[in-house]
Order: sequence, then C-alpha cells, then structure tokens
Amino acid sequence: MKQQTDHPQIARIKVVLFLICLLPVGRLFWAAWTNDFGPEPVEFVQRWTGIWTFNLLLITLCISPLRAMTQMHWLLRLRRMLGLFTFFYAALHFLSFIGFDHAFEINDIAKDIFKRPFVSVGFAAFLLLIPLAATSNQWAIRKLGGRKWQKLHRNIYLIGILAAVHYFWLTKVAAMLWPLAYAVALAALLGWRIQERRRKAIPVPQFQAAKPLKFFKQKPD
Ligand code: HEM
Repeated sequence: MKQQTDHPQIARIKVVLFLICLLPVGRLFWAAWTNDFGPEPVEFVQRWTGIWTFNLLLITLCISPLRAMTQMHWLLRLRRMLGLFTFFYAALHFLSFIGFDHAFEINDIAKDIFKRPFVSVGFAAFLLLIPLAATSNQWAIRKLGGRKWQKLHRNIYLIGILAAVHYFWLTKVAAMLWPLAYAVALAALLGWRIQERRRKAIPVPQFQAAKPLKFFKQKPD
C-alpha cells in the first residue's frame, strides 16, 4: 500500500487540529504555571483529563457520520489524529491516577483497580485503547489486512460503552446530567453505525442486478 500524501489544504487543517487538540493539555500547563488548580488539584487534573478523553472519543466517532452526511471525504484523514489524541488524554488520565493517587506503587494500583468497580471499568477501556493506538499506522493496516484491522478498530464502540459506564459509576446521583448527556451522544453515534451496517448489508435485489444484461445485444457468431 502506498503512503498517501495530504493535499496542502488538508495538511494545514491537520496542523490547526493538532494545535486545537493540544489546548486541553495547555490548560493544565497554564494552571500549573499560575498555580490555579483550585482547591483540589489532583481531582482537577483527573477530571480534566478524563473528560477530554471522552470528548475526543466522541469527536472521533463523529467523523464517519459527518462524512456520510456532508460527502466531505477528506474528514476521514483527520480520524487517526483524533483517535491518537483520545489515547494521549487517556494515558495522561491513567498517569494522573497511578501517579497522584498511588505514587506509582504497583501493588496499590492493582488493589485499587480490583477494589473500585468504576476504576476497573475505566482500566478496561484504557487497555482496549492500547491496541487501537498501536495499530493506527499504515504498517499495521498492511500487516493485519483491512478486514482484521477494521474488526479490531470496531472495539472503539465497546470502549465508548465502558467509558460511559465508568462515568456513570463515579458520578453522584445529583450530578447525573453530564454522564447522561455523554451516554445519549454515544448511543446516537452507535445507533447511526448500526443502521449504516444494516443498510450496507441489504443485498441488491436480483432483478436490479440483472437489469443491465437486458440491454446487451447478442453478438452475431
Ligand atoms: C477510555 C478511558 C477513560 C475515560 C473515557 C475516562 C473518563 C472519565 C471521566 C469522564 C471522568 C469524570 C470527569 C468529571 O467528573 O468531570 C473520570 C474520572 C476518573 N477516572 Fe476515568 N476514564 C478513563 C479511564 C480511566 C482509567 C484507566 C482509570 C484508572 C485506572 C480512571 C480513573 C478515574 C478516576 C480515579 C477518576 C476521578 C474520580 C473522582 O473524581 O473521584 N479512568 N474518568
């Protein structure tokens, strides 16, 4: 498979998107610089990186429906970067958990992952993200083959469901509106994908497939 080079305009869009995706981590650096983490710095960092992981996950999932609705096929060229940024924020989120909560103590980390169900679910989502991030390159697509690669990358929906469960589980009843909003957005994107797969699976009716044949003239021998 030949490496595709981007049209200069898409390359520019990618640079802008890259910088936009860095803004949330820039916000953390700014807070560190100005000492503006609020009364609970650890909670601030954990929540910020958690919510941005979920935001980027949803934005990544928006690419296919947006492309189908607008016919702007170049949107697909942004998906890999968005997916990798999802992983980047998930890794920061995980790092803040193992670093701030457990000072990188492996036993403590393992105990907490088993003890608190919402942490187990988040951890499962993170583990499932790793192979997706690792295979987000042309070499992996070539090695795995398109079908296997697509099958693996469909895990993104399972990751979304785990992320929604994780978010519901850690939120107090009084503040359920946000997790609910994220779950509804995820359900809409999942619903679109299921409908799309059903539509593509509908076989072309026989009479339609046979139609062009009627117009072929028999060649004389
Ligand atoms: C795809 C992976 C993940 C996503 C999308 C995600 C998402 C989130 C979200 C949305 C929040 C709440 C933010 C808020 O309250 O505004 C959160 C908090 C949290 N997450 Fe995750 N998370 C993920 C993975 C993980 C992992 C791997 C761990 C640890 C093993 C983890 C541990 C936590 C903790 C400790 C909190 C803070 C809970 C609190 O405030 O008490 N998450 N996460």
